[in-house]
Amino acid sequence: MRTPWMFALCLTACAGSPDRPVCVEPATGLPSDLACTGLYNPDDPTQIAADVMPYTPGVTLWSDGAEKHRYLYLPPGSMIDTSAQDAWKFPAGTKAWKEFVVDGKLVETRLFSKRTDATWDSGTYIWDAAGSAATLNTAPKGIVLDSGYEIPAQKDCDKCHHGGSDRLLGVEAVALALPDAQGATLTSLAQQGLLSQPPATTTITIPEDATGKAAAAIGYVHANCGMPCHSSRGLGDETKLVLRLRADEFWAADGSSKPTPVTQLDTYVSTVNQPPTTAAVAQQFPGAFRVTPGDHTKSLIWLVAHLRGNYQMPPLVSHAIDEAGTGKVSAWIDALPPP
Ligand code: HEC
Repeated sequence: MRTPWMFALCLTACAGSPDRPVCVEPATGLPSDLACTGLYNPDDPTQIAADVMPYTPGVTLWSDGAEKHRYLYLPPGSMIDTSAQDAWKFPAGTKAWKEFVVDGKLVETRLFSKRTDATWDSGTYIWDAAGSAATLNTAPKGIVLDSGYEIPAQKDCDKCHHGGSDRLLGVEAVALALPDAQGATLTSLAQQGLLSQPPATTTITIPEDATGKAAAAIGYVHANCGMPCHSSRGLGDETKLVLRLRADEFWAADGSSKPTPVTQLDTYVSTVNQPPTTAAVAQQFPGAFRVTPGDHTKSLIWLVAHLRGNYQMPPLVSHAIDEAGTGKVSAWIDALPPP
């Protein structure tokens, strides 16, 4: 909930400056100016607001090479309902922003804002050339810039974010507990009393196998394939392709640590030596399994991630191949002993 106090601050910050809009909070939807969303310090709009927490998940989505910065805001006195560790529920008033910097320039800042217990608003703000103001994008279709980078349309947000139990994707137990997570990690959120049921162990590592390359590959597909779509919440039920790490693969019911061997993770079981679901994919990539141990060129999860055009994954917004990220996947597959 936007409190009258914040509203007043926002008005004070914006009034009196000809360059800044007056922040009128719309009754529904998002304000048209990013400056009015609460991301910045009202006294110094060049700084992030003191009550907004920067964070980086331990594994992240490839965004065609953009550098990204993420921020989370929880209303004062609230906490995240973590009673289902795999399906966090956020308090009304929660906001998450993600900034995209392409070739050293701020291009867009995306926002998910939970208006009521049942309603989220989402959209992206496009920065002006000087990097001084950003306006809510209302274009009906994605905007592909000269660099080839695409700013997604509002209608595209939920095509990936429906995969979150409560819209947000990287703000989840697994990603925030991994060693590379920064800022508002699972540990720091627990320490600040922001989780209703913090697990006893707040750090985890993805299991490794004899190849020494499993954890990197599995973490990559978790963020890039599992978080948005290929989970039991998304397409997983239909396709039985589940690439999202589940909290109960890491934590026992009492919150203590419960490591699962690589060969028992959904990501392994649903891919290794498993044929594709659809006839069209089988025809397009003859003889390929989802993962063919020892041969990434016969492994669908690598083939489609390392492809742009028909059959590419993810199927929207991205136009550039992630060589480094898909390289983690091919390195693991090639190191797996062939049958
Ligand atoms: C191709 C899938 C995809 C699309 C399309 C997409 N997102 Fe995301 N988004 C993700 C994933 C995966 C994450 C988490 C990983 C990360 O942050 O790198 C994420 C993270 C975010 C975050 C940080 C909070 C969180 O959920 O982890 C925000 C804010 C966000 N997206 C906003 C948007 C908005 C707004 C749109 C539409 C304009 C959008 N996204 C479109 C996949 C997508």
